[in-house]
Amino acid sequence: MNWWNPRFEDSSIGPYVLKAVNEHKFSEGSLAVYFQERMAKALKVEHAVALNSGSSALAVGMLALGVKPGDEVILPDRTWIGTAHAVKLIGAVPVLVDVQEDRPLMDIRAVEKAITDKTKVIIPVHLNGFAVDMEILLPLARHKGIKVLEDACQALFSRRHGQHLGTVGDIGCYSLSWSKLICAGQGGIAVTNDPELFEKMRKIRHHGVDNAYDSSWGQFGFNFRWTDIQAALAVPQLGVVDRDIARLKENHARYVEADIGVIPTESGEEVPLYTSCLSKRRDELVKFLGDRDIGCRVLWPSIHTSPAVGSDEKFPNSDRFAQEEFYLPSGHALASEDVDSVISAVREFQG
Ligand SMILES: Cc1ncc(COP(=O)(O)O)c(C=O)c1O
Repeated sequence: MNWWNPRFEDSSIGPYVLKAVNEHKFSEGSLAVYFQERMAKALKVEHAVALNSGSSALAVGMLALGVKPGDEVILPDRTWIGTAHAVKLIGAVPVLVDVQEDRPLMDIRAVEKAITDKTKVIIPVHLNGFAVDMEILLPLARHKGIKVLEDACQALFSRRHGQHLGTVGDIGCYSLSWSKLICAGQGGIAVTNDPELFEKMRKIRHHGVDNAYDSSWGQFGFNFRWTDIQAALAVPQLGVVDRDIARLKENHARYVEADIGVIPTESGEEVPLYTSCLSKRRDELVKFLGDRDIGCRVLWPSIHTSPAVGSDEKFPNSDRFAQEEFYLPSGHALASEDVDSVISAVREFQG
């Protein structure tokens, strides 16, 4: 059993791919535009921009928000390294803060302490569909004139108090890579309610121009474009996303009820993409399960240990997650019987 399997709507992909190929307009053709529009509607947001990855969405979002080399950007020490690398890519300075004790989400008190005159953007990361408390973070940022870029790469269609994560700050970013709710192989979406930010992101995605024949060159940008071939994979999945979300929630609830160390959601609105589990004997447990053909994913080290990003500060909560956290088999392709056999194996290990 793999820790994750993507699930495609096989019978629907072929006609969409043919449509994309026959249109002879691979990047940003009608399918990519259609997907963007459907995403904006589904997320109840004004504008969506499809991009070639979640990491690109973060970089494009920061450029649109006017982040310049040397500006400081605050982010949590627990996230996928892509969040921090997007900050580095545009020459800004990543400022790391510790996470909460019980969930690997940015500690907002630590954010408050980390703010300086150079802080331009705060990036709350809604890791694993778990919601950062935007009702506290947003007023804090607004009061200081700081922009908020939500990293909702792992939180597509997760909500808090009725609002989709990623749609509350200035810009929100989602990933469509292989272990996400909607998998396009690679891909990303940036959303906003601000028409100016939308226009900027739309242009930054394509070297600042409207098309390859437009040589106005007013806006700095890069090739961050998505393709219709990828949209052909994503569009059919959007049609069955409610079913997939229900499956994720059902599997996760089953794991949580078994009381084997899985981090629970805070409400039924959160979509737990992964079965994030904590164990003081993590590496032993992962080996035990691996010997029984149950694949797990040991989570990444904390960002402050990266030579490219690095920090000498102490992040005790983050360090604990780095040592104890792993994913049990997860995903909407996983059947309830698989969940039950994983639970039995973990119980066997726990004695
Ligand atoms: C929290 C987080 N941020 C950013 C990214 C980057 O997204 P992508 O892999 O689509 O570039 C990911 C990808 O897994 C992620 O999990």
